[in-house]
Amino acid sequence: MKKVKHLLELPKASTHLTLWKADLNEEGSFDEAIKGCNGVFHVATPMDFESKDPENEVIKPTINGMLSIMKACVNAKTVRKLAFTSSAAAVRFGEHEKPVYDENCWTDVEFCRNKKMTGWMYFVSKSLAEQAAWKFAKENNLDFITIIPPLVVGSFLMPSMPPSLITALSPITGNEAHYSILKQTQFVHLDVLCNAHIFLYEHPKAEGRYICSGCDATIHDVAKLLREKFPEYNVPTKFKDVDENLEIISFSSKKIKELGFGFKYNLEDMYVGAVETCRGKGLLPPAAEKRVEGTGLLPPAAEKRVKGTS
Ligand SMILES: NC(=O)c1ccc[n+]([C@@H]2O[C@H](COP(=O)([O-])OP(=O)(O)OC[C@H]3O[C@@H](n4cnc5c(N)ncnc54)[C@H](OP(=O)(O)O)[C@@H]3O)[C@@H](O)[C@H]2O)c1
Repeated sequence: MKKVKHLLELPKASTHLTLWKADLNEEGSFDEAIKGCNGVFHVATPMDFESKDPENEVIKPTINGMLSIMKACVNAKTVRKLAFTSSAAAVRFGEHEKPVYDENCWTDVEFCRNKKMTGWMYFVSKSLAEQAAWKFAKENNLDFITIIPPLVVGSFLMPSMPPSLITALSPITGNEAHYSILKQTQFVHLDVLCNAHIFLYEHPKAEGRYICSGCDATIHDVAKLLREKFPEYNVPTKFKDVDENLEIISFSSKKIKELGFGFKYNLEDMYVGAVETCRGKGLLPPAAEKRVEGTGLLPPAAEKRVKGTS
C-alpha cells in the first residue's frame, strides 16, 4: 500500500484503475493483467545502479521480462499495439560521441560492459531488451513501437525520490558519481513523455523507434539555472572530473515532431517542478545541508533521503 497509495488516490482511480501484481523475473507473470487488453505500455525496469549482481538483478530481468510481456501480448490475441519505454541509454553510449543522435543510433553494449561507467548495467539492459524486442516483434508480427526518453525531469507523484532525479539533482546533492551522466545530456518533461506514449499508441502511422527529447544542456547550464532559481543550495560552478568547456550533445525529436507531436516545457519548467515537488515531499531540504568536509557528499542521513529507495 505504501508504494501504490498515490495511484489509488488519483482522480477516478476507484472506477478507472485496477492494480495487478507482476514480476519481470517470473515468466508468465504479466499474462493475467494483459489478457483482454487492447493496448499495453511496458514501462517497468529494474534501475539499481548500485546492484552487486548486475547480470541477474538488472540485465536478465529486463530482457526476460520484455520477452515474457511480448509473449503475453501475442497469446492474448486482443492486443492492438505494444509500446515499450526504451531509453537514451539504448542509443548514445559508445567510444565516440556524436553531436546529434537519432533513432538509427544504438549503444555499444561491449563498450559499456568494458568501461563500467556509472549506470552501465542499465545501459546494457535497455539496449539488449530493445534489440530482443524488435526481433520478437518481427518474428511474431506484433505491432510494436519504442519511445526513447532522455533524462525525465518534472513534478511527480511517487512518494520517494525518482531515480532520474538522483542524476538530475546531483549538482544540488553533490552525488559525484552521477556527474558523468549529467555532463552533456538531454531532458524531457514527465508530462510530455506520458502524452507522447499516448500519442504514439493512438497514431495509426506510428512505427519504429521514437526519440522524445525536449531540450539539451550541459551540467554547467543546469548548475547555472539552479544557482539562479535556488541560490540557497550553493550549487557549485565546477564539478569533479568534468571539463569546464563542454559541447552540447543533442537528441533529435524530428521524427515524432513530423508526426505532429509538440513539446511545451523548457529546462526551467522541468527543474522548478522537480525541486518544488521534492521539497513538498521532504526529499530535499529547503536549503543547503553542510557537505562532509573534503568529500562533497551529504551526511549519511541526507544521502539516504536523496537516494530514495532505488
Ligand atoms: N526516468 C528517466 O529519466 C528515464 C529515462 C529514460 C527512460 N526511462 C525509462 O522509463 C521507465 C520508467 O522509469 P522510471 O524513471 O519511472 O523508473 P522507476 O521509478 O524506477 O520505475 C520503474 C518501475 O519498474 C518496476 N520494476 C522494477 N523491477 C521490476 C520487476 N522485477 N518486476 C516488475 N516491476 C519492476 C518498479 O517497481 P517497484 O518500485 O515495485 O520495484 C517501478 O515501478 C523505465 O523503463 C526506464 O528505463 C526513464
